[in-house]
Amino acid sequence: MKILIMNGPNLNLLGQREPSIYGTGTMETYVAELRKLYPEVELEYFQSNVEGLMIDRLQATLRDGTNGVVLNAGAYTHTSIALGDCIRSLTCPVVEVHISNVYQREEYRHRSMISAACKGIIAGFGLHSYRLGIEALLRD
Ligand code: DQA
Repeated sequence: MKILIMNGPNLNLLGQREPSIYGTGTMETYVAELRKLYPEVELEYFQSNVEGLMIDRLQATLRDGTNGVVLNAGAYTHTSIALGDCIRSLTCPVVEVHISNVYQREEYRHRSMISAACKGIIAGFGLHSYRLGIEALLRD
């Protein structure tokens, strides 16, 4: 089982970025924990601040044997028709995740351009949203 965790813009700053919303843990430490929790899963982590690079990496799942994607597209969630189109072109399931509960926040975060293309959505559980995303894919 090969799972890709993908983070979009500004999520490289986890641990220092608005810690009251996103917590103090870094993604590198969390991914290391996830790899220990799921030794049977080949877990790849990819982060980019660039929309096109995210699309290139997602398209690569069409040929690299990836079985599922846990995607936190950051603010591109709310704006990117291109990411939505890309997800619709993939053959593996994509789980949309958010660290914060976007529905408790500003109204512009209530709209997602990718949700309809995703298998399901997990939001509001801190970094554990990613683990729940993996669980969802393992049970898919
Ligand atoms: C986020 C929520 C988005 O609205 C925001 O732009 C992010 C992070 C989250 O994980 O809670 O960058 O996706």
